[in-house]
Amino acid sequence: MKFLVLQGPNLNLLGTREPETYGAVRLSDVITSLDKQASSAGAVLEHAQSNHEGEIVDRIQAAAVAGVDGIIINPGAYTHSSIAIRDALLSTAIPFIEVHISNVYARESFRHKSMFSDIAAGVIVGCGTFGYTLALTAMIDRLR
Ligand code: DQA
Repeated sequence: MKFLVLQGPNLNLLGTREPETYGAVRLSDVITSLDKQASSAGAVLEHAQSNHEGEIVDRIQAAAVAGVDGIIINPGAYTHSSIAIRDALLSTAIPFIEVHISNVYARESFRHKSMFSDIAAGVIVGCGTFGYTLALTAMIDRLR
């Protein structure tokens, strides 16, 4: 089992960015914890983060070529706008789980719309960075 964990814009700042909304856990800590979870389940993770829409599209296309079994993606602000990332995910047909650290439905109305939720295998919202653990658990369960 090989999964891609893909983080969108500003998620490199996890731990310092608006900690009251996104918590104090750093992206490097999320990665360490997910890698540990994956290896104990016999899964391998690739991690990527980008602040650029086209790079995220490229990463999704590369995942298809590399035979990735599933994608866990937090598209950040691109959640609410990116047809290009949506099309990339549709073109690969790789199952993906959309994660949001914050409860986007309890925030500004522009965050209530997602370009991805209707085509996602699952959506995890508002569980903090623990949402990534939940997504990986669900992804492994789905693949088994
Ligand atoms: C986010 C929610 C988005 O609205 C925001 O732009 C982000 C992070 C989240 O994880 O809660 O960058 O995806």
